[in-house]
Amino acid sequence: MDTPEKKKVIFSAIQPSGTITLGNYLGALRNWVKLQDDYHCIFAVADLHAVTVRQEPKNFRQNILNAYALLLACGIDTEKSLFFIQSHVHTHAELAWLLDCYTQFGELSRMTQFKDKSLKHADNVNAGLFTYPSLMAADILLYQADMVPVGADQKQHLELSRNIAERFNGIYGNTFTVPDPYISTVGARVMSLQDPSKKMSKSDENVNAWVAVLDKPDTIMKKFKRAVTDSEAVVCVGEGKDGINNLIGIMSAVTGKTSDEITAEFEGKGYGDFKTAVAEAVIEELRPIQERFEDYISNKDYLAEQYRKSAEIALKISQRTLDKAMKKIGFLAK
Ligand code: TRP
Repeated sequence: MDTPEKKKVIFSAIQPSGTITLGNYLGALRNWVKLQDDYHCIFAVADLHAVTVRQEPKNFRQNILNAYALLLACGIDTEKSLFFIQSHVHTHAELAWLLDCYTQFGELSRMTQFKDKSLKHADNVNAGLFTYPSLMAADILLYQADMVPVGADQKQHLELSRNIAERFNGIYGNTFTVPDPYISTVGARVMSLQDPSKKMSKSDENVNAWVAVLDKPDTIMKKFKRAVTDSEAVVCVGEGKDGINNLIGIMSAVTGKTSDEITAEFEGKGYGDFKTAVAEAVIEELRPIQERFEDYISNKDYLAEQYRKSAEIALKISQRTLDKAMKKIGFLAK
């Protein structure tokens, strides 16, 4: 008899940074929402990772809740997926400690994000910033995740997670599933509106470089109108047209139209019209998300019910893996 194929497990997480950008949404979150039907998805707000840089307590607490509410508003569905807050599930910090002891100083020193962040926060190069990747490995390995959707900036960390899993399995026998990157075929790479050779990032000093999912419609319009383009004034994909290429990419991601269709639609029209049209399409895409966000964020009890329900299940699943790993290492059972 055929046994139905087991759904693969996907794990991913996002830091509660305070601003979730259009780039985060089109490049990652929107794909997470789609994955929920075909995989066992486990998502988390990675609040433990966030304290590697100093947080103001009141803002931090609000940012965690906002991130949770916004992801629900984007379509993360707790009926289909587990969606919890990392610090609510204590196994993450526990396994992270163990994995620290199976991760080499040299490996962590080579992480480009560590090198970048140490330069940026030179006054606070703390040990957590250094061991950040083993916490990320714990997140993933606790759920025996088969795949992890990650952007280019987290690829190196995922590669290290694989190495840690393989190393542990090599010593103690099969304990952790070795996770593969999940490469999305549809994810849009959204670039800065001010310097389209760089990825859109909320840490950009120029606020006009990024659009936040919760930006007001007139702010979105203003930012797109200021977007850097070129002097050719022809709406089409081309070399040396990074700005327009980016806007076409955004338009295509939001409307589902191909770049050829978009080029045809705007033939003979100027960049001003095109920018306005892109802004309008983005505003319409984000409007229902913003409305749902307002509903969720004003209903704290509902949010708490959701994150508690998921955390309880996540604890059960992850405890099994943690117990297994501890037994293999030789810890005395309780
Ligand atoms: N470090 C990731 C980021 O900053 C967030 C993250 C934490 C994560 N744990 C994870 C991503 C596990 C994928 C898998 O974007």
